[in-house]
Amino acid sequence: MSIIDDLSWRYATKEFDSEKKLSNEQLNSLLESLRLSASSFGLQPWKFVVVDKQEQKEKLLAHSWNQRQVVDASHVIVLCRPTKFGEEDVIKFVKCTAEMRNQEIESLEGFKKVMVGFLSRMDEASINAWMKNQIYIALGSLLTVAAHLKIDACPMEGFIAPKYDEVLGLADHGLSSVVVCPVGFRNDKDKYASLAKIRYTQDETVLKL
Ligand SMILES: Cc1cc2nc3c(=O)[nH]c(=O)nc-3n(C[C@H](O)[C@H](O)[C@H](O)COP(=O)(O)O)c2cc1C
Repeated sequence: MSIIDDLSWRYATKEFDSEKKLSNEQLNSLLESLRLSASSFGLQPWKFVVVDKQEQKEKLLAHSWNQRQVVDASHVIVLCRPTKFGEEDVIKFVKCTAEMRNQEIESLEGFKKVMVGFLSRMDEASINAWMKNQIYIALGSLLTVAAHLKIDACPMEGFIAPKYDEVLGLADHGLSSVVVCPVGFRNDKDKYASLAKIRYTQDETVLKL
Protein backbone atom coordinates (compact mmCIF):
# COMPACT_ATOMS: atom_id res chain seq x y z
CA MET A 1 0.00 0.00 0.00
CA SER A 2 1.27 3.45 -0.81
CA ILE A 3 1.30 6.30 1.66
CA ILE A 4 -1.61 7.81 -0.28
CA ASP A 5 -3.61 4.63 0.35
CA ASP A 6 -2.76 5.00 4.04
CA LEU A 7 -4.08 8.58 4.01
CA SER A 8 -7.28 7.45 2.32
CA TRP A 9 -7.68 4.73 4.98
CA ARG A 10 -7.32 7.29 7.75
CA TYR A 11 -10.39 9.03 9.08
CA ALA A 12 -11.23 11.00 12.21
CA THR A 13 -12.29 8.03 14.30
CA LYS A 14 -15.52 8.56 16.20
CA GLU A 15 -15.75 5.15 17.87
CA PHE A 16 -12.70 3.39 19.24
CA ASP A 17 -12.58 -0.25 20.34
CA SER A 18 -11.89 0.13 24.04
CA GLU A 19 -10.56 -3.45 24.22
CA LYS A 20 -7.72 -2.82 21.80
CA LYS A 21 -4.59 -1.18 23.16
CA LEU A 22 -1.48 0.08 21.43
CA SER A 23 1.70 -1.90 22.03
CA ASN A 24 4.63 -0.05 23.57
CA GLU A 25 6.32 -0.14 20.18
CA GLN A 26 3.34 1.41 18.43
CA LEU A 27 3.04 4.12 21.06
CA ASN A 28 6.74 4.80 20.83
CA SER A 29 6.53 5.24 17.04
CA LEU A 30 3.75 7.78 17.47
CA LEU A 31 5.74 9.68 20.08
CA GLU A 32 8.78 9.65 17.79
CA SER A 33 6.64 11.09 14.98
CA LEU A 34 5.87 13.99 17.30
CA ARG A 35 9.40 14.42 18.57
CA LEU A 36 10.90 14.40 15.08
CA SER A 37 8.52 17.04 13.71
CA ALA A 38 9.77 20.20 12.10
CA SER A 39 9.46 23.48 14.00
CA SER A 40 10.40 27.09 13.44
CA PHE A 41 14.18 27.42 14.02
CA GLY A 42 13.94 23.89 15.45
CA LEU A 43 12.92 25.36 18.79
CA GLN A 44 10.37 22.61 19.59
CA PRO A 45 8.03 24.66 21.78
CA TRP A 46 5.95 21.67 22.85
CA LYS A 47 5.43 18.76 25.18
CA PHE A 48 3.27 15.73 24.46
CA VAL A 49 1.30 14.45 27.41
CA VAL A 50 0.22 10.81 27.26
CA VAL A 51 -2.93 9.82 29.15
CA ASP A 52 -3.74 6.12 29.43
CA LYS A 53 -5.25 5.76 32.90
CA GLN A 54 -8.95 5.04 32.52
CA GLU A 55 -9.84 7.15 35.54
CA GLN A 56 -8.13 10.21 34.06
CA LYS A 57 -9.70 9.64 30.64
CA GLU A 58 -13.16 9.45 32.25
CA LYS A 59 -12.53 12.81 33.93
CA LEU A 60 -11.72 14.36 30.55
CA LEU A 61 -15.01 13.26 28.97
CA ALA A 62 -17.11 16.10 30.44
CA HIS A 63 -14.55 18.59 29.11
CA SER A 64 -14.49 17.05 25.62
CA TRP A 65 -17.99 17.91 24.46
CA ASN A 66 -18.82 14.37 25.68
CA GLN A 67 -16.90 12.88 22.77
CA ARG A 68 -16.27 9.29 23.84
CA GLN A 69 -13.06 8.99 21.87
CA VAL A 70 -11.18 10.28 24.91
CA VAL A 71 -12.50 7.40 27.03
CA ASP A 72 -12.46 4.53 24.53
CA ALA A 73 -9.19 5.21 22.72
CA SER A 74 -6.15 3.31 23.90
CA HIS A 75 -4.26 6.51 24.68
CA VAL A 76 -5.06 10.21 24.59
CA ILE A 77 -2.20 12.40 23.49
CA VAL A 78 -2.55 16.00 24.65
CA LEU A 79 -0.31 18.27 22.63
CA CYS A 80 0.80 21.11 24.87
CA ARG A 81 2.75 24.34 24.75
CA PRO A 82 4.87 25.73 27.52
CA THR A 83 3.08 28.49 29.45
CA LYS A 84 6.19 30.65 28.99
CA PHE A 85 8.69 30.64 26.16
CA GLY A 86 11.58 33.01 25.69
CA GLU A 87 15.31 33.64 25.89
CA GLU A 88 15.94 30.82 28.40
CA ASP A 89 14.53 28.33 25.93
CA VAL A 90 16.71 29.71 23.14
CA ILE A 91 19.78 29.37 25.36
CA LYS A 92 18.85 25.75 26.13
CA PHE A 93 18.41 25.01 22.42
CA VAL A 94 21.70 26.65 21.44
CA LYS A 95 23.53 24.69 24.15
CA CYS A 96 21.93 21.47 22.93
CA THR A 97 22.88 22.27 19.31
CA ALA A 98 26.51 22.96 20.26
CA GLU A 99 26.70 19.66 22.16
CA MET A 100 24.97 17.49 19.60
CA ARG A 101 26.90 18.95 16.66
CA ASN A 102 30.16 19.29 18.50
CA GLN A 103 30.34 23.02 17.82
CA GLU A 104 31.75 25.94 19.78
CA ILE A 105 28.83 27.68 21.46
CA GLU A 106 30.31 31.05 20.40
CA SER A 107 29.83 30.09 16.75
CA LEU A 108 26.08 30.01 17.39
CA GLU A 109 25.92 33.51 18.86
CA GLY A 110 24.51 35.08 15.67
CA PHE A 111 21.85 32.37 15.35
CA LYS A 112 20.93 32.84 19.00
CA LYS A 113 20.53 36.61 18.53
CA VAL A 114 18.23 36.08 15.55
CA MET A 115 16.00 33.75 17.57
CA VAL A 116 15.93 35.97 20.66
CA GLY A 117 15.15 38.96 18.44
CA PHE A 118 12.38 37.05 16.69
CA LEU A 119 10.71 36.18 19.99
CA SER A 120 11.25 39.59 21.58
CA ARG A 121 9.35 41.31 18.78
CA MET A 122 6.21 39.34 19.68
CA ASP A 123 3.80 39.86 22.55
CA GLU A 124 2.64 36.91 24.65
CA ALA A 125 -0.45 36.23 22.51
CA SER A 126 1.63 36.15 19.34
CA ILE A 127 4.18 33.79 20.90
CA ASN A 128 1.35 31.51 21.98
CA ALA A 129 -0.10 31.58 18.45
CA TRP A 130 3.37 30.83 17.03
CA MET A 131 3.75 27.86 19.39
CA LYS A 132 0.30 26.63 18.38
CA ASN A 133 1.39 26.70 14.73
CA GLN A 134 4.37 24.49 15.55
CA ILE A 135 2.22 22.06 17.52
CA TYR A 136 -0.18 21.66 14.62
CA ILE A 137 2.75 20.59 12.43
CA ALA A 138 3.47 17.89 15.00
CA LEU A 139 -0.20 16.91 14.94
CA GLY A 140 0.05 16.48 11.15
CA SER A 141 3.08 14.20 11.52
CA LEU A 142 1.28 12.18 14.15
CA LEU A 143 -1.80 11.67 11.96
CA THR A 144 0.28 10.65 8.94
CA VAL A 145 2.49 8.23 10.82
CA ALA A 146 -0.49 6.76 12.66
CA ALA A 147 -2.21 6.14 9.31
CA HIS A 148 0.92 4.51 7.92
CA LEU A 149 1.04 2.18 10.93
CA LYS A 150 -2.71 1.42 10.68
CA ILE A 151 -3.33 3.10 13.98
CA ASP A 152 -6.52 5.13 14.28
CA ALA A 153 -6.63 8.67 15.58
CA CYS A 154 -9.01 11.57 15.99
CA PRO A 155 -7.59 15.08 16.08
CA MET A 156 -9.76 17.07 18.49
CA GLU A 157 -10.29 20.75 19.11
CA GLY A 158 -13.60 19.97 20.76
CA PHE A 159 -12.38 20.20 24.32
CA ILE A 160 -12.04 22.85 27.01
CA ALA A 161 -8.36 23.60 27.37
CA PRO A 162 -8.43 25.21 30.85
CA LYS A 163 -10.36 22.19 32.19
CA TYR A 164 -7.87 19.76 30.64
CA ASP A 165 -5.06 21.78 32.20
CA GLU A 166 -6.81 21.50 35.57
CA VAL A 167 -7.64 17.77 35.40
CA LEU A 168 -4.14 16.83 34.24
CA GLY A 169 -2.36 19.30 36.53
CA LEU A 170 -0.55 20.76 33.54
CA ALA A 171 0.22 24.11 35.16
CA ASP A 172 2.46 22.28 37.65
CA HIS A 173 4.53 21.23 34.63
CA GLY A 174 4.45 24.73 33.10
CA LEU A 175 2.17 23.52 30.31
CA SER A 176 -1.08 24.43 28.65
CA SER A 177 -3.07 22.13 26.33
CA VAL A 178 -3.43 23.11 22.66
CA VAL A 179 -4.98 20.18 20.79
CA VAL A 180 -5.88 16.62 21.64
CA CYS A 181 -5.49 13.34 19.75
CA PRO A 182 -6.95 10.07 21.00
CA VAL A 183 -5.17 7.10 19.34
CA GLY A 184 -5.99 3.42 19.20
CA PHE A 185 -8.09 1.19 17.01
CA ARG A 186 -11.44 1.79 15.39
CA ASN A 187 -14.55 -0.03 16.53
CA ASP A 188 -15.76 -2.08 13.56
CA LYS A 189 -19.21 -0.61 14.14
CA ASP A 190 -18.06 2.98 13.56
CA LYS A 191 -20.17 4.02 10.58
CA TYR A 192 -17.87 6.94 9.84
CA ALA A 193 -15.15 4.51 8.71
CA SER A 194 -17.02 3.66 5.53
CA LEU A 195 -18.37 7.10 4.65
CA ALA A 196 -16.99 8.72 1.52
CA LYS A 197 -14.14 11.12 2.20
CA ILE A 198 -15.26 14.65 1.46
CA ARG A 199 -12.41 16.38 -0.30
CA TYR A 200 -12.34 18.95 -3.07
CA THR A 201 -10.64 17.87 -6.27
CA GLN A 202 -7.01 18.75 -7.04
CA ASP A 203 -8.29 21.27 -9.58
CA GLU A 204 -10.08 23.11 -6.80
CA THR A 205 -7.32 22.68 -4.25
CA VAL A 206 -4.18 23.30 -6.25
CA LEU A 207 -3.27 26.34 -8.32
CA LYS A 208 -0.50 25.57 -10.77
CA LEU A 209 1.06 28.79 -12.02
C1 LIG B 1 -7.66 20.56 14.30
C2 LIG B 1 -8.78 19.59 14.16
C3 LIG B 1 -9.76 19.51 15.15
C4 LIG B 1 -10.78 18.56 15.05
N1 LIG B 1 -11.67 18.42 16.09
C5 LIG B 1 -12.53 17.35 16.07
C6 LIG B 1 -13.33 17.04 17.19
O1 LIG B 1 -13.29 17.71 18.23
N2 LIG B 1 -14.13 15.96 17.12
C7 LIG B 1 -14.20 15.15 16.00
O2 LIG B 1 -14.93 14.17 16.02
N3 LIG B 1 -13.44 15.44 14.92
C8 LIG B 1 -12.61 16.50 14.93
N4 LIG B 1 -11.82 16.75 13.85
C9 LIG B 1 -11.91 15.86 12.69
C10 LIG B 1 -12.46 16.55 11.44
O3 LIG B 1 -13.83 16.77 11.59
C11 LIG B 1 -12.14 15.65 10.24
O4 LIG B 1 -10.74 15.57 10.11
C12 LIG B 1 -12.76 16.20 8.96
O5 LIG B 1 -14.16 16.15 9.02
C13 LIG B 1 -12.28 15.40 7.74
O6 LIG B 1 -12.63 14.04 7.89
P1 LIG B 1 -11.53 12.88 7.92
O7 LIG B 1 -10.40 13.33 8.79
O8 LIG B 1 -12.29 11.73 8.53
O9 LIG B 1 -11.10 12.61 6.52
C14 LIG B 1 -10.84 17.71 13.92
C15 LIG B 1 -9.87 17.83 12.93
C16 LIG B 1 -8.84 18.73 13.06
C17 LIG B 1 -7.76 18.76 12.00
